[in-house]
Order: sequence, then structure tokens, then C-alpha cells
Amino acid sequence: MGLIGGSIGMACVRRALAREVMAVVRRESAKDEVREHEAAHDVTLDLQEGVAGAELVVLCASVEAIPELGHQAAPALSAGAIVTDVASVKLEIVSRLDEILDGVCRFVGSHPMAGGERAGIAHAAPDLFRGAVCLVTPTERTDPEALEMIAEFWQRLGCTVERLEPRAHDEAVALVSHLPHVVAAGVMNVIGRAPDPLAVMRCAGPSLRDVTRIAASSPEMWTQICMGNRDAVLAAVRALGEEAGRFATCLEAGDAAGLEAFFAEAKALKEAKALKEAKALKEARPEPVEVSREARGASRRPKPVEGPPDPLVVTRPDGVRGVIEVPGDKSISHRAVVLSSIAEGTSTIENLLPGEDVNCTVEIMRALGVPIERVSATCVRVRGVGLYGLRAPREALWCGNSGTSMRLLAGLLAAQPFESVLDGDASLRRRPMERVMGPLRQMGARLEGTPPDGTAPLAIHGGWVKPIGYLSPVASAQVKTCVLLAAFYADGVTSVTEPRQSRDHTERMLPDYGVVVKRRGHTVAVEGGQALHAFDLTVPGDFSAAMFFIVLAACTPGAELTVRRVGLNPTRSGALRILERMGATISVESNDSSGEVGSEPRGDVVVRGGPLEATTIGGDEAPNAIDELPVLAVAAAVASGRTVIKDAAELRVKESDRIASTVANLRAMGADARETEDGMIIEGPAALQGAVLDSFGDHRIAMAFAIAGMLAEGETRITNTGCIGTSFPGFYTTIKRLLAGE
Ligand code: S3P
Repeated sequence: MGLIGGSIGMACVRRALAREVMAVVRRESAKDEVREHEAAHDVTLDLQEGVAGAELVVLCASVEAIPELGHQAAPALSAGAIVTDVASVKLEIVSRLDEILDGVCRFVGSHPMAGGERAGIAHAAPDLFRGAVCLVTPTERTDPEALEMIAEFWQRLGCTVERLEPRAHDEAVALVSHLPHVVAAGVMNVIGRAPDPLAVMRCAGPSLRDVTRIAASSPEMWTQICMGNRDAVLAAVRALGEEAGRFATCLEAGDAAGLEAFFAEAKALKEAKALKEAKALKEARPEPVEVSREARGASRRPKPVEGPPDPLVVTRPDGVRGVIEVPGDKSISHRAVVLSSIAEGTSTIENLLPGEDVNCTVEIMRALGVPIERVSATCVRVRGVGLYGLRAPREALWCGNSGTSMRLLAGLLAAQPFESVLDGDASLRRRPMERVMGPLRQMGARLEGTPPDGTAPLAIHGGWVKPIGYLSPVASAQVKTCVLLAAFYADGVTSVTEPRQSRDHTERMLPDYGVVVKRRGHTVAVEGGQALHAFDLTVPGDFSAAMFFIVLAACTPGAELTVRRVGLNPTRSGALRILERMGATISVESNDSSGEVGSEPRGDVVVRGGPLEATTIGGDEAPNAIDELPVLAVAAAVASGRTVIKDAAELRVKESDRIASTVANLRAMGADARETEDGMIIEGPAALQGAVLDSFGDHRIAMAFAIAGMLAEGETRITNTGCIGTSFPGFYTTIKRLLAGE
């Protein structure tokens, strides 16, 4: 279990390519390394114990050791087993293993052209083979079925498979692998002859690095390889000598044309290869496999977050003043967890929203193999696994009430080489998912929702995705982010164009993680294959949570309230501008703790109460204030005049039909409100009356009407308040403080 064996093991475990992966190691201490890297489910020192009952055995050892390993393993191998190896030379090894395993089991030689100058499991990675070539070397003794299975095995690890017989293999790799090692060592040795080689090397640029990277490889291993492929390596080195001779002759003779021809021949061949590779990449799209939703067990659900009492009883407070804080932003928290999970390195996220929605995302990323440590209720440390390090989940992935979790993760999972199921509660199971499945299907992904409407649970047959230019019919940050997450895995540039600007947290955060994002108008584009790098982030306060109290203060005569450290991304804070237009006195103050956090602006919002006027809300404003429209409708009820909310049909497909639920509750409190197809019309001012109101299981409705209750005459009871914990666990504590005049 070195670099190659460790990487095979990690890939098999993470991608669930085998029921059980057993590692065989030579030293006791290596057992811990295997466990630490999760490179196998179990590990043993006993070769025969390790291979007993195995369906596939991969011999990963030095060229000299492999035949002996085959010999030792033979008595314990079952007849149905297939054995392969990963040696860099094949003629000798394949003929010996063919002989040793004759009548024991089936053998197919392999040689994955992956790895590097660094050896050992410490450098192993589950994506080591992604994009690599694997040479499989059948002989006339090779069983065709075993050959197919071995080829598929390497493909599942991400390789392109080439078949060639052992002698052709050795001749080819002498040229493309062994000779480059001789060249790298030779160049270093020439430099080594200089009087002060290290001083010379300080002058080096990328060409020396490119040509000599592999000179740091193991001398022992390369001696064995070259000895194992003597004839072919000798022929290759002699040919190189002839080329060096040809070059020297031209140079000596001052033959510029000869020198140019020398370089030009090389360049032409190199470019022909690049062209062929680009074409092959476009064509290689393996078929994804089937998954059945029923095959998955129950999903792991995060513990419910303690919410306010049910019913929540509120009255009008004596006054609204003081300084409050709100929890971390929900949208940014989800994104920070997801992006940190697929980044390389450890990210610390502070002021993470401790609400149920984000907890679902955290649990899902854990189920996908990402180590996430809870440092405190609002701080997590995420050990990113890189773009290709996620592993197949063992269970359905539970998104609870969270549309953001489901839609964002559908994009990420569509591009993984495994199957998964996303599920959620009754509300989430009603919400439209075609809006994300459509573009993902265009990218070549295979997903299916549950009939008749294609809603959750969603079954995702992860696989290769291709880049697209997507014209989204809805202005939805969830759809946009879903496509961008899948785009990381596509070979080329993917773009999303929206009819109106939706919240742009993803576009702002990606550069923090080292991803180049192009933005023009309402189009955002990323090129696939860019690695993400860990980023430490403090999430700003949630603007949508802050708006409940901003509206409360704006509508309460004599109120003065400060909400500290609130995220003020302009694509989110449209509600602030609307409320100002309605006559509210609002100022944004910055202090030491304000300014930019990552790429997200934030500040302290100071609100003073006073009379409000009606307004019309619609157009580009609607997506920028979409989550705040229920509480703005409450403000509209107490404002004088007719408020029209339009272009907001999206409200109908949120956690509840927010047009219907807002209007129903406003009317129950004595306000004059009616639904329109894409919004509502409210005639103010109303003297709101306390009432018993349902939350419709929707956190924003529950909180908007708790605020309405605090503006009303008498007592208001909100029932079904458990949902508040999804986005604002401290809501009740803040309400209590304000009611107590603290
Ligand atoms: C969100 C986007 C919005 C918003 C939701 C969170 C996000 O939804 O309503 O609460 O984090 O991307 P849409 O993208 O569906 O408009």
C-alpha cells in the first residue's frame, strides 16, 4: 500500500467500487497509515489471509517482489479470483505470473501510468488515476472476461485503458516512461558536474523543473525497472545518444537549419499528440449506472434545533430599542460548508448559522466523507477532500426543510462517480426540482425525481458532465449555484445567464477559494477543473433574519434599534431600500468589525421608527428581496396607502405558498390584503388585531407574523413554530429581550 496501492484503495473505498477492500501490508506501523488514509476497510499483515475469498487482487509492489507475491498468494486464491499487478515492466512479470497462477485463477497484467516522483501512501490520492492511461497487457492465455473486468476496473478509477501485448508494452514504456527517467537523471548528473551545482540551479526556471521532476524518484525502484526492461531501455538510450550526436554535429558545423529541423520534428509530434488527446477527451463519456431509490436505507438526520415555545405568544412591547445581533447568514453558511468540503486544505468557518438547514448540509458533507469538526455551536473546521475526494454515501442524504441544500447538492452530486439520493421533509418534497434537474441533464447528468412532478426524493446517477451555456428561465441563486457546482467537473467553460440578478454569494465566494469566475451582466461563467483552496471565513449576520427586527423597529413609533454585523450584499438587501422608500429612517454604520468579510460587505444597521407610506415592489427588486417579502407585507399593512407586490410568483414555491400564507394571516389580523397571481395587494393602514395564526410550517411566515403580533393590539399566538429553528435559532431569545424592554 504505497502510492499506487494506497490510491487504488482510497478510490475504491470512497467511490464504493467494492463491498470490501482489504489491504495487505508488510509492517505493523503501515496498518495505521492505511487506516488513517481510509485506504481499505480492513488491513492485515498476512498475505494469504488478505487474499482469501477476494474477487480481485491487485499486486502493488516492486518489479522484483511481484512474482514472489503471486507465488505466496497462490494457495489462498479462489478459483474465480482475478489477479492483476501494477508493474512498470511486463514481458517478464506477465509470463511468470501467467505460469504461477495457471490453473489457480485468472491473471491480467496492468500498468497504470500514474504516480510521480513521490512515493508512499502519504502521497496517495483517490483521484490519482483520473485522466491517466492504464495499459493492460493480455497474452494468449488471458481470459477475455477477466480482461474486460480489469479494463472496467481501471476505467472506474478514472483511467483511459489501452490494450497491448507485453512486449509492445515494454518497448513503448521504455520510450515514454523509462527513457524520460534516464534523461532526468542524466540532466541532473550533468549539472552535478558543475563546480557549484546548487548555485547553477538557483538560476533555473520552469524548463529544468519540467524536465527533471522525476529525477527525485526512488533510485532502487528505477534500477529494478531498467534492469527488468534491459533490451528496450538500452535501445531507447542508444537512440537518444544518436539524437544527441545529431544535435552536436549540427551545432559543431554551425548548421542552423539542421538544429531547427531537430526542434521542429519534436514540436510537430508534441502538437499532434495534444490534438489527439483533446479529441479523445471529448468523445470519452462512459455511461453512468442505474440506481434505485428503494435500495437506499434511512438517512441520517441532524438533531432538531431547539425552537421557541409552540404556540409562540407575543404582544406589543413598550418600546423597541437597543442593540441586537442575528446569526450567520444562511445562504453563505451553506456555500461555505460545501465549497470548503471540496477545497484542498482545512477551512475554519466562524459564525456559521447553527440552524437545522445548514446542519443538514454539514451532515450530508460528512456522509460524503468530509471530516467536519464542530469547534463550537457556530464554528466548524472542514478538512476539504478536494474536487475528487468525495465518497459514495451509504444512505439517502437528508435535506430536511432546506431547498438550498437539495438544489446546490444536486449539482455537486450529479458530477460524482457514484450514486446518491437526496430527500427531505413534506414541504421540500413538494418543491420544484425540475429547475435544477433540467440544466443538469443538459450537462449529461442522469437524475430522476419522483413522479408525477419530479419532486424529491431525487435519485442521482452521478457521472461525467459536460459544459453548457445555460439560459435560466428563473432568477434563482440556487439554480445558478447548482449548475456552477457541477461545472467544476466539466471539461470546459460553463455559463449561467439569468433573467434578473439573483443573490451573488457564490460568485463572490468562489474567488476566495481560488476559483476564477467571469461575470458579465447577468451571466456568470467558470471553467471546469479548477482546484479550490481552503479559505477561513467569518459569516456575516443574516440579512433576512435582521429584516424581521428592522421592520419591527421601522413600524414602532419612537423605536431605535441597531442590528450589528449584518451582511449587506446589494443583491440581498433590496428590502432595506424598499423600506427606506416607504419612509423608514435607516442608516448603515460601519465600525471596526465591519467592512468586507471575504467578499461580502457587512455593517451595523440603525433603524428609527416612524410613519410609513405604501409602495410598489416588483421588477428587478423582487429577487433581491424575495425572502423578505412576507415581513415587508406586514410593514405594508401598517403603512398608509396601497402597496402592490408583483413579479414575485416565486413566493408560491417557497417553504409554503408565501403569497397565500401571508395574505391569509394578514386578513386574520384585520388587514385588507388580497392575492394576485404573482404577488399581493395590501390596503393600509390597518390597525392590526392579535389573532391565532398558523406558520404553515414556514419559518419566514412564523417570524414575519410574530413581528406582526408585536405591532398588533392584544395577543397573537403563532402555532407550528418548530420551523423557526431551520434558520433562526435565537429568534425567541431576541423577542423575549425586546418584550422585556432589555
Ligand atoms: C437562496 C436563494 C433563494 C432564497 C433561499 C436561499 C440561496 O432561493 O429564497 O432562501 O441560498 O441560494 P431561489 O434561488 O430559489 O430564488
